[in-house]
Amino acid sequence: MKDLSRKSFQTRAVHAGERVPAADYTPVTTPIYPSVGYLYESMDDMDAVFAGTKQGYVYTRYASPTVSAFEAAAASLEGADAAQAFSSGMAAIHVSLLAAGVKAGTAVVAALDLYGATFTLLLNLLAPMGVDIRLVNAADLKEVETAIRESRAVLLFVETISNPLLKVADVPSLADIAHRQGASLLVDNTFASPYLFNPLQHGADYAIHSATKYLAGHGDVLAGVVAASVENKNKLCELNKLVGGVLGPFEAWLALRGLKTLPLRMRQQCQNARQVAEWLKAHLRISKVNYPGLPDHPQHELAAQLFEGRGCGGVLSFEINRADKATVYRFMESLTVFLPATTLGDIYSLILHPATSSHRSLTAEERARIGISDGLVRLSTGIEAVEDMLSDLDQALGNI
Ligand SMILES: Cc1ncc(COP(=O)(O)O)c(C=O)c1O
Repeated sequence: MKDLSRKSFQTRAVHAGERVPAADYTPVTTPIYPSVGYLYESMDDMDAVFAGTKQGYVYTRYASPTVSAFEAAAASLEGADAAQAFSSGMAAIHVSLLAAGVKAGTAVVAALDLYGATFTLLLNLLAPMGVDIRLVNAADLKEVETAIRESRAVLLFVETISNPLLKVADVPSLADIAHRQGASLLVDNTFASPYLFNPLQHGADYAIHSATKYLAGHGDVLAGVVAASVENKNKLCELNKLVGGVLGPFEAWLALRGLKTLPLRMRQQCQNARQVAEWLKAHLRISKVNYPGLPDHPQHELAAQLFEGRGCGGVLSFEINRADKATVYRFMESLTVFLPATTLGDIYSLILHPATSSHRSLTAEERARIGISDGLVRLSTGIEAVEDMLSDLDQALGNI
């Protein structure tokens, strides 16, 4: 509506100030574009955008400018040709499984120790729909190869650093094994983040993130993103148009802003986690510490090689000697620097009891099979001063 001057008050209230011609300036940071629809000079232009022969946006469930900016940044950090954003890490995982060919009658091989909701998605949602789920020890390459061959799996799913036991996946070898058998490799790279590792550069087909964690980094946005080839990104995009797990523009803007400090945060968080892991290891009340940066971790060498000395991430887990759930809860309640909140990868230091939170949906037998005891505690180190973390842990351990 070009000339509003002769229109009624009611019509002007709706249209005044909108759709100003493209501005002749470039904002330093990407604006938030909340518009759901987009206009073109002619219907032919719009038709061309729908057909994909002209660049542009038609509807925000398909794509939108702020989300595209976040996708471009995530693709760049992952060294990938493209990326697809999602409304959460779980939406990213679910759609990636579909894009890689999961449907009734197919098989999936996955690491036994995975984030609880991924485990539940595979076993409680996909298995009853007719997907054959084989869980393996991903550190045993022979076992992985046999499972893929015998089940004719369409894909192998692993976490670069597993939640919550901190096992490290040998992504280059797993990519070779999967591809030899005609399967895709899907890697949940949430714990490592692109700061430590780029799965696609080591043969993986999909690098998946809960961007809620390190990528966004501030505990204020739920988001997911998958880095992939252009062909796989297009598959993810077409599927997500139907699934609708779309990232909102405001959330994309927060995630994009968070990404900018990823290297600074990760450097500090890796350093803090290593010092906390070493301190806990020497403490009499602690019976076990899981952290790839410790020399006695089973994949310590592999982690050093894959992450090229940049660190081993900001998450670690440990067991308090002979502690039951009540003792662990008392310990968690005594902490003041570590916040007992159900997430990780934030600038804040966080503590979580996997058995009753991230892995609560598993049965006690399933948790025992994976190695998640009632005494296991997971820490995510923030960017605070490490001495404050250590004195906090010291006073809380003294309280139990
Ligand atoms: C390793 C890992 N992958 C995926 C997810 C799911 O991400 P979101 O909570 O963003 O859906 C999580 C959540 O904690 C996670 O830890």
